[in-house]
Amino acid sequence: MLSGGKGTRLRPITHTSAKQLVPIANKPILFYGLEAIRAAGIVDVGIIVGDTATEIEEAVGDGSAFGLKVTYIPQDAPRGLAHAVMIAEEFMGKEPFVMYLGDNLIRGGITDFVDEFQRNRPNAQILLARVDNPSDFGVAELEEGRVVRLEEKPKEPKSDLALVGVYMFDAGVFAATKSIEPSGRGELEITDAIQYLIDDGQSVRAHEVTGWWKDTGKLEDILEANRMILETIEGRIDGDVDSSSKIDGNVVVEEGAEVRGSVLRGPLVIGRNTVIQKSYVGPFTSIYHDVVIQNSELEHSIILENSRIMNLGHRMERSLVGKNVEIVQSGMMPKAYRFMVGDASRIEVP
Ligand code: DAU
Repeated sequence: MLSGGKGTRLRPITHTSAKQLVPIANKPILFYGLEAIRAAGIVDVGIIVGDTATEIEEAVGDGSAFGLKVTYIPQDAPRGLAHAVMIAEEFMGKEPFVMYLGDNLIRGGITDFVDEFQRNRPNAQILLARVDNPSDFGVAELEEGRVVRLEEKPKEPKSDLALVGVYMFDAGVFAATKSIEPSGRGELEITDAIQYLIDDGQSVRAHEVTGWWKDTGKLEDILEANRMILETIEGRIDGDVDSSSKIDGNVVVEEGAEVRGSVLRGPLVIGRNTVIQKSYVGPFTSIYHDVVIQNSELEHSIILENSRIMNLGHRMERSLVGKNVEIVQSGMMPKAYRFMVGDASRIEVP
């Protein structure tokens, strides 16, 4: 499981937090991957960690909450996915293994994929998905169903088949990671290591994913993943909703949360001890723990813990609000915007 890296495309959220811990429907992205791994029958997991190691270790612990045995493998800098494989060699020993990128979400898990690998036992197996923007991914070229070429983020992609961030290898991949050179972006690319296996005559099988899959590296992808996960939730009211509030659709109100004089139109989740007052919360919204929403309207958004949104004059939508953020209308004159905004933030006003 890879949980290092930089998360530059999600700044400012990732200035202070690991991108793999951004919650989707109030559960960290990484946890979906760990659950999928466990469901596939895997128990021993090595997690590659970088600058955000402390945070990841705090969230995952020894893995027992997931039924896993977790070992942390520190990576000194994000030197590439093949570098992460290389430093995991001692942990893996000679066993075949799954490599799972901690920011990837795959509906339906990876069990079929792992079973297929075990049945056929190729040297490597990759997952492919058709995408509209192949240049943002590793891209595979197939000939009669066989993988012949892989290119990392090509300017002129030869197909629309993107490499999904879940790979299976036998121990032969370690030699490949030692035989390749850093790419133009200065990283040891896993695509190059797999290309090395192909050129070496080893068997590399491809498996196409037909259900949805998301690499949650960018804001739009996180909102989309949030939408997709919320579509699958079932409503549950464990908190306190007063009689003047109205609830439609699948709505989760967690324990200790209070909803007063508000309209909640699901699917959406409201976290523990969050207070929603005289507000409208619309579809595809995840509000984390200890948040206050007052006299405001929002939808299609993710709000992280301990933030306050009060008296907004316009509806807020398609937004990601970090931890401990305040967005308020003061009501004072002159009617001007006042900001205290961190580095690499983005604010859009009507
Ligand atoms: O999501 C699929 C794509 O993932 C593939 O299509 C690409 O071929 C593959 O290179 C990768 O591309 P990204 O540019 O999206 O990878 P990213 O740098 O975001 O890293 C993926 C995960 O691995 C992320 O959780 C951070 C972690 N990581 C990354 C690097 C480079 C590490 O733990 N160590 C690293 O050195």
